[in-house]
Amino acid sequence: MCGIIGFTGNIDAKEVLLQGLKSLEYRGYDSAGISFFTENGVNTIKSVGKVDGLADKVASVAADVVTKCGIGHTRWATHGGVSEVNCHPHHYGRVTLIHNGIIENYKELQEELAADGKEPVSQTDSEIAAMVIDSCYKNNPIKAIKKAVKKFTGAYAFCIMFEDHPGSIYAIRNGSPLVATTTPSGTIIASDMVALIKYSKDYFVLPEHHIAHLTSKNITITDLDYNEIEPDMLHVNWDMAAARKGGYDYFMLKEIHEQPEALRNTIAPRIKDGMPDFSTDGIPDSLFSDINRIIITACGTAMHAGLIGRNMIEKLTRVPVTVEIASEFRYQDPILDSKTLVITISQSGETADTLAALRLAKENGAKTLSVVNVKGSSIARESDYVLYTHAGPEIAVASTKAYTVQLAAMYLIAFRFAVIRGSVSEDKIKKYVAELEKVPSFVQKMLSCDKAIEPISRKLLKTESLFFIGRGLDYALSCEGSIKLKEISYIHSEAYAAGELKHGTISLITDNVPVIALATQQKVFAKMISNIREVRSRGAMVIMIAGADAEVDASLCDHLITLPPIDDAFAPFGAAIVLQYIAYYTAVGRGLNVDQPRNLAKSVTVE
Ligand code: M6R
Repeated sequence: MCGIIGFTGNIDAKEVLLQGLKSLEYRGYDSAGISFFTENGVNTIKSVGKVDGLADKVASVAADVVTKCGIGHTRWATHGGVSEVNCHPHHYGRVTLIHNGIIENYKELQEELAADGKEPVSQTDSEIAAMVIDSCYKNNPIKAIKKAVKKFTGAYAFCIMFEDHPGSIYAIRNGSPLVATTTPSGTIIASDMVALIKYSKDYFVLPEHHIAHLTSKNITITDLDYNEIEPDMLHVNWDMAAARKGGYDYFMLKEIHEQPEALRNTIAPRIKDGMPDFSTDGIPDSLFSDINRIIITACGTAMHAGLIGRNMIEKLTRVPVTVEIASEFRYQDPILDSKTLVITISQSGETADTLAALRLAKENGAKTLSVVNVKGSSIARESDYVLYTHAGPEIAVASTKAYTVQLAAMYLIAFRFAVIRGSVSEDKIKKYVAELEKVPSFVQKMLSCDKAIEPISRKLLKTESLFFIGRGLDYALSCEGSIKLKEISYIHSEAYAAGELKHGTISLITDNVPVIALATQQKVFAKMISNIREVRSRGAMVIMIAGADAEVDASLCDHLITLPPIDDAFAPFGAAIVLQYIAYYTAVGRGLNVDQPRNLAKSVTVE
């Protein structure tokens, strides 16, 4: 949802901005632009399309321009189409800014500005924000920002340059992320740590509704009452290599391969003497001891991880769990009380709907726990407690490693909750924990199934529509398989509970509609076989994913993928790899940009 960056220091700012934008490109790639101070004032260069196009333009028109301070933006269009005029930075009067978020009341603000004879040139809410800030500006940037943001409703992260304050960048945020750091080369602020990692592993999250003033030497932060504050410093334990493709064709493939390590890093610190342990996470037993139900809320893939988590929590604790799509939950007037634990799941920790769902839960007195990958992100900071997943940065828009570590986190929560509740014997929990500890090497083994899957995926290249079917855990996985395929291959697909097909949907099955059937669960295996026969007899090509012990008649499917031996409850970790590969190789086979699918962005910080 747009990547923004600001730099001021003693080295070439253009270079810092372009490199930073390249690493932030996963957040949007409709257009990109930079503005920078020169001896002659503020220069702006914009380009429709990807950051590489902007870099070429900068090289051709500004290679020799000296600048040490500037801001840059890579856009995911919300208000106003994809065009150069709508590309950021936006400039009005003495103000140049970049924006991530949405100013919801921009129409009213635009009318007020029009009454003063001021008209924007673009169709964006962001240009209106620039105009409002300029209209509030006398000579004091902080006063102007303070006055202007009072007029804005919506989410924003702004980096702002004032023409008469060369070398300075001002930033403020509400809802959208901003992290910053000071380095010997200067100070830098951006939407995500991936743009800072080249310069530092230490950073801070700009607190909401605080103004950062960046100069080449330091960053000062003031609240809206002009009190200066010291931010809490954070540290990441990954480096530049983690934010690069490292020899893989796509980040998605790299991230698929990083899963064993990500799982190990997420699971190992939470196991002590063979039992689940959250003491280093600071999660007290009381969080689980006094609740009578759980609501899991999240979006997209993270929500699918919640569906699997529900299964394990209910199985081990017999406490009712519901899983809610965050964008629905927040407007449903949900029934919440102090005996409800709301678990939010989010890779980025910034998803607007998930964050709003969390805030709603807190306002209504529920206890909150989040499963988050990005340290210090809004959801992590606002939850009562956080269980961090340790996947490292996930750059590909399609979530892979973040999903499997979310599953691991949900299993750990189920185990710990069962221990506290005493709903399952210690022996049984130890067996489950031991199985979970085997998951990283199980997933490692699964990675070599790419050789089998690539040729199968070739059979899907001309497909227009297909179905994923499964029961129980496999139905939850079908949802994930389907979103993955859709988002990067642009093939329409649906996930369906296998038993539900014949209540209407089976009329869509023909010999042109393949079915990917997940049948990893012994408990419902026989039922799945019947469902597979139903679609097969209507002509569907069937790709079947089954557990190690499954006895599958050769006539049942066209392609069979068998998982290595593992307890059924842990089969999702293996089946997830198969589904990720199916999506990946199908998209590659169709010649698509796997990491940057059309219309999407990684971090959805708008509703
Ligand atoms: O950052 P989050 O985990 O909150 O993101 C939620 C979804 O936007 C995300 O999982 C999305 O569905 C993925 N692109 C799917 O691969």
